[in-house]
Amino acid sequence: MFNLFINPRNKKGHINPELQGHFSEHLGRCIYEGLYVGEHSDIPNVNGMRKDVVEALKEMQIPVLRWPGGCFADEYHWKDGIGPKEKRKKMINTHWGGVVEDNSFGTHEFMELVEQLGCKSYVNGNMGSGTVQEMSEWVEYMTFNGVSPMADLRKENGHEAPWRVDYFGVGNENWGCGGNMNPDFYGNMYRRYQTYIRNYDPKQPIFKIACGANAADYDWTDGVCKEAFRNCGGQHGFMDGISLHYYTVPYEWSHKGSATDFDEKAWYETLSKTLFMEELINRHTAILDKYDKEHKVGLIVDEWGTWYDVEPGTNPGFLYQQNTVRDALVAGINLNIFNKHCDRVKMANIAQLVNVLQAVILTDGAKMIKTPTYHVFNMYKHHQDGELLDSFIETAKVGLDEKKMVPNLTESVSLGKDGKIHITLTNLSATDGCEIRASLADTVIKGSCAEIVTGSMQAHNTFDAPETVHAEQFTDYTAEGSGLKIKMPARSVLHIALDI
Ligand code: AHR
Repeated sequence: MFNLFINPRNKKGHINPELQGHFSEHLGRCIYEGLYVGEHSDIPNVNGMRKDVVEALKEMQIPVLRWPGGCFADEYHWKDGIGPKEKRKKMINTHWGGVVEDNSFGTHEFMELVEQLGCKSYVNGNMGSGTVQEMSEWVEYMTFNGVSPMADLRKENGHEAPWRVDYFGVGNENWGCGGNMNPDFYGNMYRRYQTYIRNYDPKQPIFKIACGANAADYDWTDGVCKEAFRNCGGQHGFMDGISLHYYTVPYEWSHKGSATDFDEKAWYETLSKTLFMEELINRHTAILDKYDKEHKVGLIVDEWGTWYDVEPGTNPGFLYQQNTVRDALVAGINLNIFNKHCDRVKMANIAQLVNVLQAVILTDGAKMIKTPTYHVFNMYKHHQDGELLDSFIETAKVGLDEKKMVPNLTESVSLGKDGKIHITLTNLSATDGCEIRASLADTVIKGSCAEIVTGSMQAHNTFDAPETVHAEQFTDYTAEGSGLKIKMPARSVLHIALDI
């Protein structure tokens, strides 16, 4: 029996909906086919955006979408993606499969998508190969409501009113594909580029994000902050957020392992690597705390998720992979970690939305399926905009390798916007169910319901069997007074909602 203690009176912080954010890059079949099929497609669409995908994402309450990359962002010249489509420049997508990018999905199309989804926009600028002027003009084009060369150009292209840019990233992975810079150099470049990201509407300031570290590269975070916070006149390093990228790769980058064909050893390797996210957040936060004592700067985990070998027979540059119950666990564990760190983590974006890496949706022409990861996001949506509650769970170590044991359980608890208490739990054990006894101090439970995502380790959805893994009603628990007794199966992600 494992005890879960919840103190509903102790609220620990606000859970930004953006902790459940997403990322879409011009990569493989994410944008083209996955999201955008064009106005003339036989696949049902509204202004070119797939109806089935938009509907599924709205149901999941997608809170924010990052675009156009990734590595693609630092090679993207936004002016190539505006104006009449037949006149738009074609380019080579050098990072991702060397395919021709016809720029038919550009700024107007992204903003249309965001509008249809009803989510916030996160635009990633090009610092690696773009100029300060180019970045500055993009912001003017998108957000200025007046007479100016860029606002006039937007109007000529058919959009009178400005759009809202909620988040803007100044470069992507500038330590690597975004220019191979050193931290001090990037820190200084960041100061310069961000100067010209004007807030044309002071009522809707743009949240500026500096490029942060690759996983455990703590020197990067420290080096960038050192430069950015020098003589910044109280402007907390001229940034609202700094990013962190961390992917769960079961083995090595050279042989990452299959998405569906794996054993118990790989199961635990994957989950153990996923849990490293907590240490990364703690250590990058400790660095930020040195420079930003007032906690003004958010940690933005704008790329995370599993990265496996591509599905056999698919283009290696398209990063297409399947998604199993193991991915559901990875999603549940990470989302619990982000909730627990909501004082510093202000946004997180799983990579990537459709057909790429740990996608929530896969498509095959006109067909679409929801992955196990989708169902976890759909269960966790009840945490969005909630208040994190103080909670603690007892755990035992599980695994096959003494050195890489993992706790059998993770959890997070919130008081939702709907006034209910939402508990999300993950059982990492590949083999064993467990009993959990939850107590809510003096808070009395008046009603409850629960749903679960579970299955065999390798269970996944296919276009022929799209419902193999889905969220099912869960009844193997009792609720009485201020307590719950839960029998949680192995390999599962659970959500319990309590009326209080
Ligand atoms: O998500 C795929 C790639 O991973 C992104 O383009 C890049 O930022 C990261 O290395």
